[in-house]
Amino acid sequence: MQSDPSYLEQDEDINQFDIPLAKRTYLSNPNSKLIKKLLIFSPFFFLLFFTVSWRLIRNIELGSFNNINFQAEKDQQNRILGHLPYSEVPKNKLVLIEPNIEVHIDMRDSLLNMREEASRDGIYLVFLSGYRSINLQNDIFYSLKSIRNQEAAERARVSAPPGYSEHSTGFAIDIGDATQRETDFETEFENTDAFRWLRKNAARFHFKLSFDKNNKYIDYEPWHWRYEGSIDALKVFETSNKEI
Ligand code: DAL
Ligand code: ZN
Repeated sequence: MQSDPSYLEQDEDINQFDIPLAKRTYLSNPNSKLIKKLLIFSPFFFLLFFTVSWRLIRNIELGSFNNINFQAEKDQQNRILGHLPYSEVPKNKLVLIEPNIEVHIDMRDSLLNMREEASRDGIYLVFLSGYRSINLQNDIFYSLKSIRNQEAAERARVSAPPGYSEHSTGFAIDIGDATQRETDFETEFENTDAFRWLRKNAARFHFKLSFDKNNKYIDYEPWHWRYEGSIDALKVFETSNKEI
């Protein structure tokens, strides 16, 4: 059958018909081949790019989320009944400013200047408690707890367990109003002129109220101020200041 001339003719016709098609050159152009390959593989490239980007973004998000959680967990673990740990200031950093009041040497001048300036404004500040050793804090915490028949968690709302008081750092000071001693260590201290003056002026002397009304662990203590005017003091209170 193949030798039939009519077939040959037909083949020739087909060949003639095919010649222009065979002459198409775009497939043999190296650039066209590359473009064609790129077009074929482009969905894979896109998928690869999308997967890598998505994983990268997810890792970054998870990383920062884990860091926040880790920090929160760490702070949480270090606390006892809501109080952060504080070590005792070395004895050579303590100075006596009144018969019964010792404070960290870094804060002495600022504290005395603050009292001086208040008195010039007709406000008389009285210092109630400064540095307290961990032993003294131990006595305060456990004796008051039993005198008042309180459980540790109740007592901890107003007094720190030993090793967890800002007073042991020497950077904390309890302040009263010399003209209204009945408000000493009482929430009513917030209604005194001394407190109003402190609210307005203490920051100039680098003092900050430690336990304000927003504190979720410890009751409001308008009389308790801490000094943050030296690098040592800032380091001591860094964790506390990280928490809002
Ligand atoms: N009253 C504060 C919480 C202390 O004992 O340090
Ligand atoms: Zn205090």
